[in-house]
Amino acid sequence: MGSQAGLHKLLSRADIDSAVKRLASEITRDYHDKNPLLIGILKGSFMFLADLVRLLDFPLELEFVRLSSYGSGRQTSGKVKVVQGLRSVVRGRHVLVVEDIVDTGITVAFLLDYLKKKKTASQRLCALTDKPSRRRVPADIDYLGFTVPDKFLVGYGLDCDEKYRNLPDICYLEE
Ligand code: IMP
Ligand code: MG
Repeated sequence: MGSQAGLHKLLSRADIDSAVKRLASEITRDYHDKNPLLIGILKGSFMFLADLVRLLDFPLELEFVRLSSYGSGRQTSGKVKVVQGLRSVVRGRHVLVVEDIVDTGITVAFLLDYLKKKKTASQRLCALTDKPSRRRVPADIDYLGFTVPDKFLVGYGLDCDEKYRNLPDICYLEE
């Protein structure tokens, strides 16, 4: 990487790989006998989730929701829009939400709240990255890859105006 102007590598593919392995072993320890439902928040979590589930060698099910809090660019609108909702029955299930980044916390708080109301057996959160400096609502992250600085990140699923999702590393954009 580094071939695209204005991008600086923050987390390399190797950093990400070892974090994903660690998270997979924590999740295996806690969920191997629970037939959990993993819910990926699209689009940002697609690459992380794909790498993570390949390391989970036990029965589980997958679901996706597409939530959007960003109109465009780098500013959150503060409101969560459900672009595509859940199709699976979540009542009584052990649900693990998988997210790329927790920023203000609004997106994950919205989904975890919704799940609780639907009477899941449990709901937890796995996030690859956490930007705690920007939190506006509380969010407990049960399984966390990295705490990251207050920079706008792209790559490994993360976008800026739909660009850069395909980068293998996580980079930040020059201010
Ligand atoms: P929150 O609701 O403010 O926590 O924002 C969560 C969503 O905003 C994430 O799912 C990302 O899609 C997006 N987001 C937040 N920070 C970044 C970033 O640094 N780069 C790319 N997307 C981000
Ligand atoms: Mg996202």
